Order: sequence, then structure tokens, then C-alpha cells
Amino acid sequence: MTEDLQSIVEGARRAFAQAATPAELENAKAQYTGKAGRITELMKGLASLPVDEKKTRGAAINVAKQAIEGALGERRQALADAELAGQLKAEALDVSLPGRGREPGGLHPVSLTLERIELIFASMGFDVADGPEIESDWHSFTSLNNPPNHPARSMQDTFYVDIDGEDGIPYNLRPHTSPMQVRYAHRHVKQHAAAVAAGQPMPEIRVICPGRTYRVDSDATHSPMFHQCEGLWLGENVSFKDLKVVFTDFCRTFFESDDLALRFRPSFFPFTEPSAEIDIQFQSGPLAGRWLEVAGSGQVHPAVVRNMGLDPEKYIGFAFGMGPDRLTMLRYGVNDLRLFFEGDIRFLRQFR
Ligand code: DAH
Repeated sequence: MTEDLQSIVEGARRAFAQAATPAELENAKAQYTGKAGRITELMKGLASLPVDEKKTRGAAINVAKQAIEGALGERRQALADAELAGQLKAEALDVSLPGRGREPGGLHPVSLTLERIELIFASMGFDVADGPEIESDWHSFTSLNNPPNHPARSMQDTFYVDIDGEDGIPYNLRPHTSPMQVRYAHRHVKQHAAAVAAGQPMPEIRVICPGRTYRVDSDATHSPMFHQCEGLWLGENVSFKDLKVVFTDFCRTFFESDDLALRFRPSFFPFTEPSAEIDIQFQSGPLAGRWLEVAGSGQVHPAVVRNMGLDPEKYIGFAFGMGPDRLTMLRYGVNDLRLFFEGDIRFLRQFR
């Protein structure tokens, strides 16, 4: 290769080496092998040379051209490699980072309470039953000695569904779990009908019915959806004393304190007579000294026993309805009921 060609090739190599991007490289290339590039111009100049000179000069230019194209190819590859390396680095995955993982979930505080209630009552021989949240008027009210137009109906501000029941009265979102008393008793009576007809005694009804309940109510201590747990103990020889023992036992186990006083305060419910509100009082801790209402209760009204399909002269017992939400607030020291239903993970994870 002649000196001029040699210097052109070296110039090209330098220009290519300086090109920092593929675009710069293509610009540099255009100056050598492009339409008006130095090599292209030399090729055009061949035309004016004598034939034998044309041959050697042409071959030499070709060698230079190939050298330039070789250098270009190398540089292209180098730039592509660098770009790939940069990309890989930018998208690097640091496998030594600790994973984000998934935290184990936990039960909702009210679910924890319901579980606890079920466990304690099950240990005292109570069955646990579930029932519909959309109820008929008869089950929610009438069967519980609370007929249409009775003033006691206004004790619960009830949600109604836009569908009439068989009696022509709209279905309701049950405002309490009490309808389960009658539903469960019917099931129980049916289940033991054959044995009773054969002269055997009917086993006692001993059941709790936890579940969701609904009322038109909303503030720091009331939510339109809340929980209740109904209790029913009915037999030939069940007395108010049994209610006192069972409920006192339950409260002391639930709150893990023998230092807990109970008070049965006279009250009214259409489905019990006599009726009582059950208050508890802690003897120590932040709530000590105050009477706190936790349940309604009473001896099941004869009219309700009759609606269960049983003879009120023969069967007697008691019922109670408590608020698991309230019990949860007392147990964990929560002062706003709404926290339970907002789904704020910062609140909920404290109970995990
Ligand atoms: N159902 C009542 C309410 O929602 C609570 C209640 C009171 C239930 C007395 C009972 C009972 O079983 O005997 O306020």
C-alpha cells in the first residue's frame, strides 16, 4: 500500500476509534467509503490513469478499502458490545438482595373473638350454628313474640330488602341473631322427633349462633354491619341460675380473669321474660370500676317456646345475645368500632 493510502487507512482507524456512538461511526465511515468519501474519490480518479497503472493502483485502493471496512466492522462490534454491556449493567438483578416475601396473614380481631367464643362454649357442651343473614319477617320478629306494629319493633332500626316474603312482608337483613333460636330449635325438634315419639326424652337444646347482623346505625360504637352471638339453652329443667353460671364462666374465661364481676340488670325484650342486660366490671386494669354492658338475656318467653314447636309447660330455658365486636374492643382496648371494618392493614396487623 502506498504511503498516501496508508495514511488514509490510519486516519480512518483514528476517526472510527473516536466515534463514541454508532451514529458518529456511520458519519466517520461516510467520509471514507461514502459517496463522496476519500476512497470513493480515489476510485473515481482511476478512470484517468493509464491501463497498467490503473490495475496496480486499483488493487492498492481495494486493499486500503478492505482495511478500512475491517476497522469499521471491528468498531461497530465494539460499540454494540459496549451498548449491550451497559444495558446488562442497567438491568442487573442483584440476587444477593433479600426477597420481598409475603408476610403471613392473620385472622381479623373479631374473627379471633368469634373463634374464642366458639371454643369456650363448645367446651361447655354448646353446638355452634350458622344461619341466613337475609331473614323473613316472621323469623326476625314475629316468631320472637314481636308481631307487626308492636312498639318493640322500633328497638331495631332494620334494613329491608326489596323482595317480599311468603307473608307479603319484605325480607330483612337480620338486625340480630335471635331468629336463629327458632330456626335451630325447629331443626332440633325435627331431628329428634322419631325418638321423642318413641318415648325417649328430647336432648336439651344448647347452642350458640355467631354471625353478622345489620342495623341502620353508624357512629364510633355502631356500625351498619356488626356481629352478634346468640345463645340458647332449653330443656326440662334449665333455670336462670344456669344462665348466670354459664355466662359468668364464659366472661371469666374470655377475659382470662377471675376478678370479674357480673351484674344482671332488669330490662325488656319481647322474646324473654324476665329479661336482663348483662354488665361486667373489671376489678383492675384501665377499665376497672366501670359497668360495661356486654349482652342482653332472659328466660325464653313461652310464646317463643311455642313458636319453636315445643310445649312451654314442659320446656324452659334462657337465651342471650352478645356483641363480639364490643367484646373485642374491651379485650384489646380499641375505642372506635369503625377501625374493625376499615381494613387498614396498620391496625389489623397488630392482632396477627
Ligand atoms: N336480640 C337482642 C338484641 O339484638 C339481644 C338479646 C336479648 C338476645 C335478650 C337474646 C336475649 O337472646 O334473650 O338486642
